[in-house]
Amino acid sequence: MTSPEHSAPRDRTDCERLDAEDPLREFKDEFILPSDTIYLDGNSLGARTKGAAERAQEVITDEWGTGLIRSWNTAGWFDLPATLGEKVAGIIGGGTGSTVVTDTTSINLFKAASAALKMQAADAPERRVILTQRENFPSDIYMLQGLAEQLDAGYEVRLVDDAEVTAGFPNTMTDTVALVVLTHVNYRTGRLFDMATTTSAIHDGGAMVIWDLCHSAGALEIDLAGSGADMAIGCTYKFLNGGPGSPAFIWVSEALQNRFTQPLSGWWGHARPFEMSPDYAPAEGIRRYLTGTQGVISLAVAELGLDIANKVDMAAVRQKSLQLSDLFIELVESRLADHPVELVTPREHDHRGSQVSITHPEGFAIMSALIERGIIGDYREPEVLRFGLTPLYLGFTDVWDTVEALRDILDNRIWDAPAHKVRGAVT
Ligand SMILES: Cc1ncc(COP(=O)(O)O)c(C=O)c1O
Repeated sequence: MTSPEHSAPRDRTDCERLDAEDPLREFKDEFILPSDTIYLDGNSLGARTKGAAERAQEVITDEWGTGLIRSWNTAGWFDLPATLGEKVAGIIGGGTGSTVVTDTTSINLFKAASAALKMQAADAPERRVILTQRENFPSDIYMLQGLAEQLDAGYEVRLVDDAEVTAGFPNTMTDTVALVVLTHVNYRTGRLFDMATTTSAIHDGGAMVIWDLCHSAGALEIDLAGSGADMAIGCTYKFLNGGPGSPAFIWVSEALQNRFTQPLSGWWGHARPFEMSPDYAPAEGIRRYLTGTQGVISLAVAELGLDIANKVDMAAVRQKSLQLSDLFIELVESRLADHPVELVTPREHDHRGSQVSITHPEGFAIMSALIERGIIGDYREPEVLRFGLTPLYLGFTDVWDTVEALRDILDNRIWDAPAHKVRGAVT
């Protein structure tokens, strides 16, 4: 699949027709967005699910207020990480009993990488190198660097370029590599990596792989178990619409789940937590990747987003996402041709996630001017304007209107105002 399978809309009326015919159009009603907003940042923080406020209210008023401590059992609180894990597994092709929802992506990476290195140290102690993308989300790199330092056992984190990953590690896969940690879709450029072929290249080199699915879970079809991957982590607050800071997930292949424990061996990962034994005994299976008490309100609200993602046909989501990004790219190239705008997202469908990123030397100020008009994307250094394409609540007309607004902002230098140069703590 490398070329558009639809005829591109020629004008706004064409976009309106495509929106009216869109088989996913009713999913927009599952979300609440301000009517004067085009939201292109669902790759960073997904939109609010329709029932979120009511569900949080129900947990607070009924389950906490009335049920009190009984709700750990009667409202299923204690099982929420596993209950939600099953729902995530349905979205990422994980298989039953393979996933729990808990902690943050960064913390889950620490757990997964520690367990993977321990397994490798038992089988191949000479392997002391961890490879990860130079352009990986920085927290993943920092966590690996922190873990290597903590272990103080000669581990070294080596950064590799995206092209080296796509080529199957011809220059960097040596017999000292223990582990490769890869983000499935580059957070800045939107480059998508092929999970099955990359996983086999890593396994052929004798290393293990952890996939970070933050930018792909809920955005495209994933067959984790089928790809032969070892472990995966990811968040629920982007394309899974779990809410700000909603808990992350961790998936471990069935074959590896019981081989080792992870180092954050808290009581929630114990085989019998309420025996209150002074000795740690890991639970069988994926539950051993839990650590401690979780935020129940966050988990309960995140479940709504997972239920929506389980209802949709992920192939249809992917098809519309590619149609939206094709349109975005075509319009950027035709309507913004007079400006120094460069596309950084790959054109090939097989290498494109669910976002379009472009650069412009004044990227920050341009994004600020767009946001002032209620068109919300975001900005990442250096010079990158990111536009997340979330097929469940975005349409073709939204893409058309966004590029028209960009054209106006560029043609009329609307970005060139002092107010658009001021940066907040979060861009
Ligand atoms: C690819 C990727 N990995 C890891 C993280 C870090 O996630 P958290 O802050 O939940 O630990 C993010 C956050 O956006 C991300 O995009």
